[in-house]
Amino acid sequence: MKLDQAMSERRSIRGFTDAPVSQKILEEVIELANRAPSSMNTQPWHLHVLTGEPLERVRTGNTERMLGGVTPTRDIEDYAAYEGEHRKRQIEIAVQLFEAMGIERHDAERRQDWVMRGFRQFDAPVSIVVCFDRSLLNNTIAHFDTGAMTYGLVLAAWARGLGAVINGQGIMQSPVVREVAEIPDDQVILTCVALGWPDEGFVANSVVSRRRPVSNTTKFLGFEAAKVS
Ligand SMILES: Cc1cc2nc3c(=O)[nH]c(=O)nc-3n(C[C@H](O)[C@H](O)[C@H](O)COP(=O)(O)O)c2cc1C
Repeated sequence: MKLDQAMSERRSIRGFTDAPVSQKILEEVIELANRAPSSMNTQPWHLHVLTGEPLERVRTGNTERMLGGVTPTRDIEDYAAYEGEHRKRQIEIAVQLFEAMGIERHDAERRQDWVMRGFRQFDAPVSIVVCFDRSLLNNTIAHFDTGAMTYGLVLAAWARGLGAVINGQGIMQSPVVREVAEIPDDQVILTCVALGWPDEGFVANSVVSRRRPVSNTTKFLGFEAAKVS
């Protein structure tokens, strides 16, 4: 698959078949993701790939804690609630997903069920827990570097027909994830990626999120005078 095609067609996948994902294909994907650029080539990331029984333990632990009212704990400082344009975009994608799933605005039960799916990592057969070196916790560039690697990972997965969603919900009960995945204390848990073979019949998988046009994100300077079009 061409890179342009993968970049334009990739979307978050939140419904998966039960088909297993081999370690071999995951190694290929991670090998490519590892080629991501990083500040001074520091490569601060670490990945913990879970499937089967350990992943089920994470799902159960997350679910029990969320339903039990345990306050979510993450290693990185969480953002405050989004406001303004950011909030509007957050609502827009939620509306798109709920409309696709036929979840009514006032259907609290089904909305809650959707949220719980997120904590269960959308029942994906694989979860990749993305960490970076704790010594760089306050170094924003390490977050940038790890994010760049993570985007490469989902793109490489997509190019192989695998679907993925970067899933902050999956690590919102980080102590459970750390314990089950045996993540050492010198690593910070940043996020996780739920991954597997897309369930073609799962309607939310067809949702194409909207993007701001280039004219809205970008300003070009000097091009007119230089007559470069
Ligand atoms: C850091 C990060 C965390 C995310 N966490 C979640 C999440 O917890 N649940 C979810 O359903 N999607 C999550 N997403 C996916 C975004 O909602 C999605 O990327 C965005 O709406 C754009 O849609 P697209 O990926 O289909 O282009 C996350 C994405 C990123 C980059």
